Amino acid sequence: MKDAQPKAIKLEDYREPDFWISETHLEFDLYEEYALVRSRLLLERNQNADKKAALVLHGQDMELITVSIDGKELALDSVFVEEESLTINDVPDKFEFTCHTKILPQKNTSLEGLYKSKTMFCTQCEAEGFRKITYYLDRPDVMSEFTTKITADKTAYPVLLSNGNPVGEGDCEGDAEEGRHWAKWHDPFKKPAYLFALVAGNLCNIDDKFVTQSGREILLRIFVEDKDRDKVSHALQSLKKAMRWDEDVYGREYDLDIFMIVAVDDFNMGAMENKGLNIFNTSCVLANQQTTTDGAFQHVEAVVAHEYFHNWSGNRVTCRDWFQLSLKEGFTVFRDSEFSADMNSPTVKRIQDVSFLRTAQFAEDGGPMAHPVRPSSYIEISNFYTLTVYEKGAEVVRMLHTLLGPELFRKGSDLYFERHDGQAVTVEDFVAAMSDVSGRDFSQFMHWYRQAGTPVLKVKGEFDKASASYTLKVSQSCPATPESAEKQPYHIPFRLGLLGESGELPLVLQGEQEKSQTQLTTRVLEVTKAEQTFVFQGVSEEPVPSLLRGFSAPVKLQYNYSRDELARLMRLDPDGYCRWDASQQLALQVIQSVMHALGNEPSPDVDERLLEAFAHIMQDKALDPAMVALMLQLPSEDYLSELATTIEVETIHHARNRVRRKLARSLFSRFESVYMRLSEDGDFKVDAASIANRSLRNLCLQYLVYSGQKEGLEYAHKQFNTASNMTDNMAALLAIVHSGSELAQTMKASCLERFYEKWKGESLVVNQWFSVQATSPLPGTLKTVQQLMQHEAFDFNNPNKLRALVGSFAMRNPINFHERSGAGYRFLADQVIELNKRNPQIASRLLSPLSKWKKYDENRQTLMCDQLRRIQSEPKLSKDVYEVVSKSL
Ligand code: TRP
Ligand code: ZN
Repeated sequence: MKDAQPKAIKLEDYREPDFWISETHLEFDLYEEYALVRSRLLLERNQNADKKAALVLHGQDMELITVSIDGKELALDSVFVEEESLTINDVPDKFEFTCHTKILPQKNTSLEGLYKSKTMFCTQCEAEGFRKITYYLDRPDVMSEFTTKITADKTAYPVLLSNGNPVGEGDCEGDAEEGRHWAKWHDPFKKPAYLFALVAGNLCNIDDKFVTQSGREILLRIFVEDKDRDKVSHALQSLKKAMRWDEDVYGREYDLDIFMIVAVDDFNMGAMENKGLNIFNTSCVLANQQTTTDGAFQHVEAVVAHEYFHNWSGNRVTCRDWFQLSLKEGFTVFRDSEFSADMNSPTVKRIQDVSFLRTAQFAEDGGPMAHPVRPSSYIEISNFYTLTVYEKGAEVVRMLHTLLGPELFRKGSDLYFERHDGQAVTVEDFVAAMSDVSGRDFSQFMHWYRQAGTPVLKVKGEFDKASASYTLKVSQSCPATPESAEKQPYHIPFRLGLLGESGELPLVLQGEQEKSQTQLTTRVLEVTKAEQTFVFQGVSEEPVPSLLRGFSAPVKLQYNYSRDELARLMRLDPDGYCRWDASQQLALQVIQSVMHALGNEPSPDVDERLLEAFAHIMQDKALDPAMVALMLQLPSEDYLSELATTIEVETIHHARNRVRRKLARSLFSRFESVYMRLSEDGDFKVDAASIANRSLRNLCLQYLVYSGQKEGLEYAHKQFNTASNMTDNMAALLAIVHSGSELAQTMKASCLERFYEKWKGESLVVNQWFSVQATSPLPGTLKTVQQLMQHEAFDFNNPNKLRALVGSFAMRNPINFHERSGAGYRFLADQVIELNKRNPQIASRLLSPLSKWKKYDENRQTLMCDQLRRIQSEPKLSKDVYEVVSKSL
């Protein structure tokens, strides 16, 4: 924390480090009040850098005890210690540096560096947490070989872990060391400090093994608290699937003899890919039928795979500097989403990802924190672990995959890993490998990494019967964003097809030969100019274009579809994404008409065509039940808000509810019969087919309850009482708690109470219980949230609890958070101000709903800005919060 205004770090200022660190030897002595850290580093001057440069190491929040160079202790007044650094002038070109420091993990509430989670010591070093452990060159281009010795009390901390392979352990000798033991680890792979990890605790391990493609046997070991040992098998299965998949699809084999995962309760993010010792938020690793919903099961599978995949895309090949974050994150998210697609339903996975991207990432791109996939400046790097870097970054890699095709893309990734193994590199290096294997020029494509904002793709189609031709006019533009007004045209892969009355038409572009055996019905056009025209020939009837198939680029597509054209796409499009999107566009049009009408009349009509289309979908026996569930789900309030120029909170909420209620009442018996048909069968599985059935069944249950009819709620109540798994249990509880009907009001309190009594020993289930209440659209929810913050199960220092209660309220409950008086804003600002002192990363993340004030009406704008200014005037703002507040205002 600093009083002076923190300054921005710029990509253009990047310089190589003045020194390299070939070896890093660490010794930790852990005690109940403090920890001692002894570090011995072998340093060598970088020949490319200034020959006289002083040694400047990063370091903060620690007490320096001794420093020596080549074994000679320095007088502490010849060492310049500032708030965030240590400087020694006149050091040799090659030397050994040792320092001895004292830190306070027990008081570290920021959850970066070394800290305590419940009874366990653990670390989180990415991005810049290692500097809170010892003085170091804490930057990713400094890669070193680590050896780590940990000493602690043997009873309280029987398990002592670090990266790499175990190389020794034993009991300590001497009276002062009574009851203590040690363990030593060596990691043969050079790595940056952000991949360092240490764990000490009383944990049990569940083991498995994996035989790699070359026949090496790897020990897989997951550490959890003993009470959670029945929640580990799903993560272990997921890990083995991920290891096999990375061999099959990318040719990547695991490299150490042991791979460990440790589950911790207090964690700022999902999980961390530390070399050989991944550390996971319990929410991303623990799962079983009783406590875990299907969504959470799939999340565990995806996160386990994500962190595992980082072993190559991130660890073996790492980032030169933090501006390159998407090099590892975008690529790894692309890899994990392809993995999830292969393990489950590819279409469902794609729709979930797209829906998330165009709701949340598009909103980020349109807000004050908009930044390119590779940002060019930051104040606090923790603020750039964003949807843009992760999710849009993955879309950018996906576009390369689309442009190259799977074989060339694989050649490109092989070349990238081979060329840069053991190096810290840039986004250019990645794209160069793709370019080198294909001979393609990606210089225009690089705009995807350099320019912020979501491009808009406007498309017009014109059929000419006489010449049997169909002309598509495509134009692209990108709105101005805070740091860049002028945008260059993007290189956009634009996948499409044309639908006739009874199916797809062949796609032959003007000037191409019409060869019957190569008649494609889907193809990728490349849009590179601001305006471009494509003419298809031999088009025998007026088609409906099926555009941006598979969501082939992260753009906003604008095409004026009539409701009848959308109905055709919903019926016929073989592309699952377009088919789903057509249902969303139709529902959007209908909701938006109701929104307009609500200004003039209290109860406007709902277009019958939506009812017909929904009825049709429910009858379609060929459709995957998961697709049916996705298509019957109305666009969210968040997506409606994203599309609006000015967000009318109440109008959106009421119009959507009105359409939903109309569907529920008109189609009640259909929802009822699908619900009955899919009734839970005995055998619980978490495969794609079973998940699909539960998702459709629970969607039907929601509609049955929305109808307001007594029978609907009775189904929910019965399901709540008899469900054998958390997915069905939670769906029923949610339907009851969020229902405004009088009957629901009478059930609600006892359901919530029984649920809590049953699950109060399971922290992750209690989080879901908090979320259900915090996301209720009913009046009075803010008060409930405030009361729940006093609940015995709430813990202000635990990020999962904060996200479940405060985060859910501020980010997933628009009608209550944006309540006219501004009470929701004030509440959130209070939490941010308190968190700014304890955990700046979480403070800054919770703040983001307030930062989007520009899209609301004037009254709300004023109220939101008042709170932002109140936060801004706090005496000691962390860099994290300072950056978001100052960029927002
Ligand atoms: N690299 C982690 C990932 O896989 C992200 C991460 C985990 C992180 N913990 C963090 C980033 C703490 C910043 C701070 O995505
Ligand atoms: Zn990651």
